Amino acid sequence: MEQYIIKGGNPLVGEVEISGAKNAALGILAAAIMTDDTVLIENLPDVRDINVLLEAMESIGVRVERLTRHTVLLNSADVGEVCVDYEYIKKIRASYYLIGALLGKHKMARVPLPGGCNIGSRPIDLHIKGFKALGAHVSIRNGFIIAETDHLHGSHIYLDTVSVGATINIMMAAAMADGRTIIENCAREPHVVDVANFLNSMGASIRGAGTDVIRIRGVEKLHKTEYSIIPDQIEAGTFMFAAAATKGDVMVKHVIPKHLEATTAKLLEIGCEVEEFDDAVRVVASRRLQSTNVKTLPYPGYPTDMQPQIGVTLAIAKGTSIVTESIFENRFKYLDELARMGAEARVESNTAIITGVEKLTGARMSVPDLRAGAALVIAGLAAEGETILDDIVYIQRGYEAFEEKLRGLGAEIEKVDTERELRKFRLRHG
Ligand code: UD1
Repeated sequence: MEQYIIKGGNPLVGEVEISGAKNAALGILAAAIMTDDTVLIENLPDVRDINVLLEAMESIGVRVERLTRHTVLLNSADVGEVCVDYEYIKKIRASYYLIGALLGKHKMARVPLPGGCNIGSRPIDLHIKGFKALGAHVSIRNGFIIAETDHLHGSHIYLDTVSVGATINIMMAAAMADGRTIIENCAREPHVVDVANFLNSMGASIRGAGTDVIRIRGVEKLHKTEYSIIPDQIEAGTFMFAAAATKGDVMVKHVIPKHLEATTAKLLEIGCEVEEFDDAVRVVASRRLQSTNVKTLPYPGYPTDMQPQIGVTLAIAKGTSIVTESIFENRFKYLDELARMGAEARVESNTAIITGVEKLTGARMSVPDLRAGAALVIAGLAAEGETILDDIVYIQRGYEAFEEKLRGLGAEIEKVDTERELRKFRLRHG
């Protein structure tokens, strides 16, 4: 089983290049099956979730040609089977985007119901409500969601909760429905906008993505396109907090600074300097960080996917911080692990009260989920001594070349698979 071994204590210094946004890419790849023409997608992140989705797409007849590590050609003219295997859904929840895409294009989708996940219960009732409003019959049988209709028509849909997944899924189906659709109380995340831009580049007519009302005029056919995915704001934010927690100086390159505003605001509040450039941000932390309060919210609020990263940073900031998680109920598991490094935190319902300690000390820990895993890496880098992380497969789901990028900033971190590799790391790193 692969592990990370980290020798903490080095400030991260240098430049790092951010990859394409995983969550945008998941929606865009699924949307690409809505045309029979060939689609070229660039700036695709090379991470496990994306590679599994590409396999799921191949399994239903999509021709996938990887031109480079980050560029892929897709052709879906031969997609005949609209039934996706459970094996893929088990690995990535977001393959539920295939429902919206298949329903829009083929008026029929048969996709296994995604199960729960480590960060909390994740219902898809809003996705189903949207498909039904567009005229689909949706039933759940033998663990599958079956969505089908002879005729998909425009509709007026109000989402009770702001949901990224439901917004994207309904938008995809509506793009090829007959007539006009209005979706209200939409998610405004940058990846919702990116999927809308991608669909528009294929000939869809979607207006308002990035606001809370999206208006769609359905079209009969979508056509070929070439499209480059936006940078990953969560990967960028993770490196920004890694710089802060290790008292480093990092230029985070190939980002859209506007997408990072909530993260930047919190870094400034805790005492970092943040300099913005056209497509980069520099984070410098030269003194002990200060406590703050933070509450996760839909975009443009502070992202839930950045909650563990700020949490570990506040664990070494001066004073007491209050972190409120308002999106997912089970996102504080990393604090149990962090306690083993000497952190002082108490969780009461959806709130964590974190009192910063002078320093954390390295420990062996298990990664509970993707973002918590990245946060524990940050904790290990900032801590004194050696940290070993188990279950790093979660991190590999969403971070491309994570340990290599960190090593480029001076971190002492390696992925090891055997006791021998572990010993070699210890010899090399004293
Ligand atoms: C997406 C992101 C995930 C991020 C989350 C919130 C992807 C692949 N994943 O997940 O990384 O943490 O947005 O920014 O883009 N809800 C319902 N009913 C539904 C759908 C959602 O009640 O049908 C609730 C959820 O339980 C949650 C809230 O809505 O409390 C937001 O979830 P949602 O935005 O849908 O998250 P995902 O799209 O699953």
